[in-house]
Amino acid sequence: MVAPHAAGRSIGYNNHELHRRARAVFTVLQVSDTHLSARIPRFNANWAVAARVLAMEADCLIVHTGDAALDGPDHEEDLAFAARLLRSGLGPQGQRLRCTPGNHDVGDPPSLKPRQPATDRRVAAHAAALGPASWVEDVSGWRLIGLNSQVLGSGTAAEAAQQAMLAEALLTLGARRLAVFLHKPPFLDDPQEPVSGYWTVPPEERAALSPLFDHPSLRLVASGHLHLARIIRRGDVVHAWCPATSFLVGPALLADPHSGARTLGLMRHRFLEDEVESELVPLPDAEPILFDPIAHEIYPPAPA
Ligand SMILES: [Fe+2]
Ligand SMILES: [Fe+2]
Repeated sequence: MVAPHAAGRSIGYNNHELHRRARAVFTVLQVSDTHLSARIPRFNANWAVAARVLAMEADCLIVHTGDAALDGPDHEEDLAFAARLLRSGLGPQGQRLRCTPGNHDVGDPPSLKPRQPATDRRVAAHAAALGPASWVEDVSGWRLIGLNSQVLGSGTAAEAAQQAMLAEALLTLGARRLAVFLHKPPFLDDPQEPVSGYWTVPPEERAALSPLFDHPSLRLVASGHLHLARIIRRGDVVHAWCPATSFLVGPALLADPHSGARTLGLMRHRFLEDEVESELVPLPDAEPILFDPIAHEIYPPAPA
């Protein structure tokens, strides 16, 4: 079980687990923050460990919530390499891979004054390698929505297209339940919290997403980016932080883990009729690489 959280209640299985599994309509395996590259292959072996775990799963949809590549914005070859490695590692299940981009795939929104701004060109490069950055998929009474959190507030054509897609998806939702996948979580502890800087969706952009995040049919918000594992429930909605397969972010770079667990792993989401059961799938055979002391080696500072 993942660490409980003060603002919600922790989620785990109880004696009714077998009964619940029998009622599961379908399963999504979420993987995140693989940070793959042929140029700097430091985290590729940990992906191989994750791929072996995924290969043992029965047929399911696999959703990657971003930072698939080590440095996609400046090295499109990292995106192509990540796509090849992800699909080959997944074998036949690679056909059922959906991706949403992260900051290390397409860059960041302008509110962060980033060195690598998210642009339409960068989103298109990601799409060429890993498929659409924003998507809708209907499965057995559920509508799954993949969002590109990196273009929020960017003024790009990709952002406008995503807003139109989202409006249409909500307009035609019908009786379906909703689940959302995106790289950055909409908030850390509270939807009304002030600026969280690098780690969440820009607060000034949350209003544009409120028709989705305040929707009564929403049941799951699944994100990555923090390299932490945490599962909490707020009302009817499970908020799941999928940990990375690649590396751990230590206290030097992320002082407060907000009740998240610093661990490597995946997330399994079992979709029932009207709710989602989420659980951490740990990767005990992965190397627990601590990023803090090697950050400048992996992501060298830009020349002055
Ligand atoms: Fe990451
Ligand atoms: Fe990220």
